[in-house]
Amino acid sequence: MTASPPAKAQAGGRIAVKLKISRSSSGYNAAMSQSLNPLTLPDRFAIRGRSLLPIVQGGMGVGVSAHGLAGSVAHAGAVGTIASVDLRHHHADLTAAAQRCRDRDTLHRLNLVALDREIKAALATAAGRGLVAVNVMKAVDAYPDHVRQACASGAHAIVMGAGLPLDLPELAAGYPDVALIPILSDARGVAVVLKKWMRQKPSGRLPDAIVIEHPRYAGGHLGAPDANDLNDARFDFARVLPEIFEVFDALCIARGQIPVIVAGGINSHEKLLAALAAGASAVQVGTAFAVTTEGDAHPNFKRVLAEARPEDIVTFMSVAGLPARAVKTPWLVNYLKRERKLQGVAKADPDRCAIGLHCLTRCGLRDGLARAGQFCIDSQLVAALKGDLAKGLFFRGSESLPFGSEIRSVRELIDYLLTGVKQVVAQLQEAPA
Ligand SMILES: Cc1cc2nc3c(=O)[nH]c(=O)nc-3n(C[C@H](O)[C@H](O)[C@H](O)COP(=O)(O)O)c2cc1C
Repeated sequence: MTASPPAKAQAGGRIAVKLKISRSSSGYNAAMSQSLNPLTLPDRFAIRGRSLLPIVQGGMGVGVSAHGLAGSVAHAGAVGTIASVDLRHHHADLTAAAQRCRDRDTLHRLNLVALDREIKAALATAAGRGLVAVNVMKAVDAYPDHVRQACASGAHAIVMGAGLPLDLPELAAGYPDVALIPILSDARGVAVVLKKWMRQKPSGRLPDAIVIEHPRYAGGHLGAPDANDLNDARFDFARVLPEIFEVFDALCIARGQIPVIVAGGINSHEKLLAALAAGASAVQVGTAFAVTTEGDAHPNFKRVLAEARPEDIVTFMSVAGLPARAVKTPWLVNYLKRERKLQGVAKADPDRCAIGLHCLTRCGLRDGLARAGQFCIDSQLVAALKGDLAKGLFFRGSESLPFGSEIRSVRELIDYLLTGVKQVVAQLQEAPA
C-alpha cells in the first residue's frame, strides 16, 4: 500500500493538501481511495532556487545511501544524498576488478567510476524533482577527488562533514551552480567556516545551507571530538539555533539567507514541527531512511537497525579518531572487549591497512594512534552493507524509529514526517481487502 502523492493547493505560503490513501497493489484502487480532511504542510525551503520539502535524507556510507535511496527521496521532492565513499560494492564489475587488488590508485579510480554511475542513476530516478546531493567526508583521504567527481557528474549539492570543510569552495570553484553545504555541530564551527568562506577570493562565498548535527542522537561518526561531550548543552537545537542566528547577525548575513537544517533524532512529525518552530528550515534524517524499502543496504542491515533496542545502541571510538554510534552486534561486542588490548599494541605500519585503500587521512589502525579505534572501518562497514551479522559494523542513531521495526517506503516516511498521519496507513493495511 502506498499513500499517493498529496494533491497540493497553495494556501498563504503554506501548502494545503488532501491526503489520498490508495492501495492499488493489494485491493484498493483509485476508486476506493479516501479523501481526508485538508492538512497544512510545513513550509517548503529552497536551495539554489529549487523549492524543496523540508526534509533532507542524510548521506550514509558505506553504500547505505546510494542511487536507490537518494534518487527516490529526490523524486519525492526532498533532498536525497549519496554518500561518496567506496561505492564500488554496488557494482559487480567494479568489485570484480578490485578483487585481490591492493593498489590504492586503482581502488580509488574504481570508486570514482562508481560515484559517477550512482549520481547519474539518482538523477535519472529523481527525474528533475527535488535535489540530489553527495555527502563527502573530510576525513576521507580522497575527499578532493570525490568533490570534483561529484560536481563533474552533475550532483546538485556537496554536503561535507567529518572535519571542517574549509577548502570546499576552492575545490568546487569550477562549478558555481553546485550548492555547498557544510555539516557542523555548534555555532563556533559555523563562525569559523563562514569567516573562512567569506574571505574566499575573488568575492567570497556563503554556504547554500548548513546542516547542524546533534552528536547525542545521530548515527555514524559524531561531531564532538571528545566522547564525554556528546551530551553537552551547546549542541542542543534550542541553544545552537539562536547562537547561529547571532553569528549571522554579527557577519551581516540576513536571517533566512542560509537555511539551517537540523539533524539527529528527528523521528516524528512533532519533532519536525518543533525544529521548524525553533528556526530551522528543514530536518535531516538518517536512520529512518536507511531502513526504508528503497534503502540501498541488504535487508539484514535494515533489520538490525530497525529491531535494535535502546540498550543495543552504543557509542565508541572510531579509527577516524571521532566517537561513533552503532548497534552492539557480535563484531562490535567482541571488538569492544579487545579494544584496550589492541590500543596497547597500536603501531604505525602502512601494511596494517587491511584492504590497501588507505581510505582515511588519519587512521588509528594504520597510523598507530592509540586513543583511536583499532579496526578496518571500510571492511566492517562493507560487511554491514552486505548484511553480514557476524562481521558488520552497523551505524545507527540513538532514537526509536517512526514505524518501529517495520520497513516502509520513502513515500510513507516522508508523508508521516510532513503530516503526522501514519495510523491511517496502518489501519488500511489491517483492513480486510
Ligand atoms: C548507517 C549510517 C551511516 C552514516 N554515514 C554517514 C556518512 O557517511 N557521512 C555523514 O556525514 N553522516 C553519516 N551518517 C549520519 C546521517 O547522515 C545523519 O545525519 C544522522 O544519522 C541523523 O540522525 P538520525 O539517524 O537520528 O536521523 C550516517 C548515519 C547512519 C545511520
